[in-house]
Amino acid sequence: MKTDIIERNAPPTDDRRWKIVDATMKKHNYSPKSLIETLHAVQDAFGYIDDEALKYVSDSLHVPPSKAYGVTTFYNSFTMKPAGEHVILLCTGTACYVKGTDKILEYMKNEYDLEPGQTTADNKVSLLSARCVGACGLAPVMVLDGSVVGRLSVEDMQNKIREWINNG
Ligand code: FES
Repeated sequence: MKTDIIERNAPPTDDRRWKIVDATMKKHNYSPKSLIETLHAVQDAFGYIDDEALKYVSDSLHVPPSKAYGVTTFYNSFTMKPAGEHVILLCTGTACYVKGTDKILEYMKNEYDLEPGQTTADNKVSLLSARCVGACGLAPVMVLDGSVVGRLSVEDMQNKIREWINNG
């Protein structure tokens, strides 16, 4: 019996959030028709879609990169990579929310006048939110420039952000 072995592209990095994206593509058998749903999975897990993600998704689903780029820029619900030099991504999924993400959001608004999707006037820091970054066991979770920080009290998280922004 002949078995078809289909080679899949490796995710751009070993960030476990790619597993969420991969699961979405796999669920749809890597159909090009799952482009929008897959881009939503990227957005929900990373908070934005960058060139690397677009390339990975378009290669994996066999759609032209121009199409993936076109869809991403057409829909308002998608965010391209933010302008800030540093990115704070807050997970607002249920597990994280009940453990205090709402308080961190409030803190960012009061302390830095930043809401998800915004960047400080000096372009130093962008704040984003994601629906679940796939690390619920570490809730509440935030991702600082790609590094996951979790299992901290709200106060610890505030200190971490303060320290990180001041040293950034
Ligand atoms: S809900 Fe925050 S990591 Fe899953």
